[in-house]
Amino acid sequence: MTATRFAAGTAGAHRRWWASAAMYQIYVRSFADANGDGIGDLAGIRSRLPYLRELGADGVWLTPCFPSPQHDHGYDVADYFDIEPAYGTLEDFDALIAEARRLALRVMLDVVPNHCSRDHAWFRAALAAGPGSPERARFYFRDGRGPGGTAPPNNWVSAFRGPAWTRVTEPDGTAGQWYLHTFAPEQPDLSWDHPEVADHFDRMLTFWFDRGVDGFRADAVTALGKAPGLPDASEEDLLANRNLLCQWRPEGHVAWRRWRRLVDAYERDHPGRDLVLVAEAYTPLQPDLLRQYANHDEFHQAFSFDLTLAPWRAAAWRRAISETVETLEPDGVLPTWTLNNHDTQRSVTRYGRLDAERYESWHSNLVPSDAPIDLALGTRRARAAFLTIAGLPGNLYLYQGEELGLPEVVDLPAAVRQDPVFHRSEGRVPGRDGCRVPMPWRSSPADSFGFSPSPGGPPPWLPQPADWGRYAALAQAGDPTSMLELYRHGLATRRHWLHEHPSGLGWQPGPPDTLVFTRGPLLVAMNFGPVDARLDPALTAGRRIVVTSRYGHTDPAVLPADTTAWLAPG
Ligand code: NOJ
Ligand code: CA
Repeated sequence: MTATRFAAGTAGAHRRWWASAAMYQIYVRSFADANGDGIGDLAGIRSRLPYLRELGADGVWLTPCFPSPQHDHGYDVADYFDIEPAYGTLEDFDALIAEARRLALRVMLDVVPNHCSRDHAWFRAALAAGPGSPERARFYFRDGRGPGGTAPPNNWVSAFRGPAWTRVTEPDGTAGQWYLHTFAPEQPDLSWDHPEVADHFDRMLTFWFDRGVDGFRADAVTALGKAPGLPDASEEDLLANRNLLCQWRPEGHVAWRRWRRLVDAYERDHPGRDLVLVAEAYTPLQPDLLRQYANHDEFHQAFSFDLTLAPWRAAAWRRAISETVETLEPDGVLPTWTLNNHDTQRSVTRYGRLDAERYESWHSNLVPSDAPIDLALGTRRARAAFLTIAGLPGNLYLYQGEELGLPEVVDLPAAVRQDPVFHRSEGRVPGRDGCRVPMPWRSSPADSFGFSPSPGGPPPWLPQPADWGRYAALAQAGDPTSMLELYRHGLATRRHWLHEHPSGLGWQPGPPDTLVFTRGPLLVAMNFGPVDARLDPALTAGRRIVVTSRYGHTDPAVLPADTTAWLAPG
């Protein structure tokens, strides 16, 4: 058995609320629509907070809710100090915070530092001011290459496909300079070499901390900072999607250290505030790289995405879990687990793919394999997967709808798809709309399953499948076989047994295709295989099942296929 050890002085950090929290990600556009325009909003979220309390969430992370032309649904921010009018007002936001406080729920926002919107005042000013102006220095404007500057300044590619550069028309009407965008052309990258950029984000964090938010999820942090001179990348790196000239750059870490100092100072100046920064640092299967972001000088936490890329195999899961835990623990950082988010094919669908056990089928979140899908199988596995991550040390982030077992909507017609990655790839990459379809709350199709308040209004911004009534929260509540009740029971059981044990994991021997580990007083066992597994009687003797992903599973000695169970003494 390997016991975890932590650096001196970390025990205090492990007692902070976020160390072992279960956070719930709200995709604001798709959660609940209070005013009936077919788009989710802050008042809708406020009205549903009791549901989240009952679910057992400790708080929410809201995807960007700032004014935005919505080319990437809020990840193109036009103003970092206000609320998107379609979502509400600052007063609505304050009311949301007050209600969250009343229910003892934390609220985190999403900060997007790598880029802003093409509609941001800075970018408009940069376009108007022309080449060489101080206004352009806040972005990466460069002259094009070749005769007439018609070729982009370098060969970098956008994460959403196509070149990472777009050419502008100068104020005098001529074809002009190019600007860099790691994502869509509507999302120009900010240059953090410019002191006003860092100052702006200091003000933004403080503005929202002053309004009561408990932390931020930071977007695309590995994209911040670029190699000086913006040289061409090698063809090999481009093909491997590993352009080290604009990813995982040392320059970016200057910004994160500054943010951590700001947060630490804010907490000193505001006794009682306990704030957290969690990085969206995409570092596939490279825990050492993850550690560069999550540490005592930078982010408190960083999502471990490796499980979202792990095939349905015990060995792959064990590797992802143990490497993450063991890499972060010497710094006293607890892992942040997640299986779903607004960029990833939903787990019910992902695990139901008939090639889910094959390593090759998991090469990317953005381009899932198109193998046939068995949703019943995927649902069994997603239930087990949830219970396993809920049993791991550290904290977890759930994504709205996973507690309902929503599948990915894979057959959205091209005409309704909105994700820029779908359009920029000319439909070759399906994109992320399928995990963003609005939530079903009630079984009644006439009012978009309770997403919007009453029948007859505009339809939801993405169409819901006709059979989604069966996934509705109300339809599942009270049904012990439902996904919702598994999540409720799982989170309550986690709080009861593991609250005092935010860290520590001990691997135990188990039959092939299983993971078995101790956590505090619990034994957690997961069976990836297609047949029952018999657990070591020495481990299970004197224990009983306190929660299992398989309804009707009562024998602690036998673990059915695609099942996770937690065994407690007594
Ligand atoms: C990561 C976000 O999660 C994703 O939705 C967004 O498109 C990119 N960053 C760009 O901001
Ligand atoms: Ca609305």
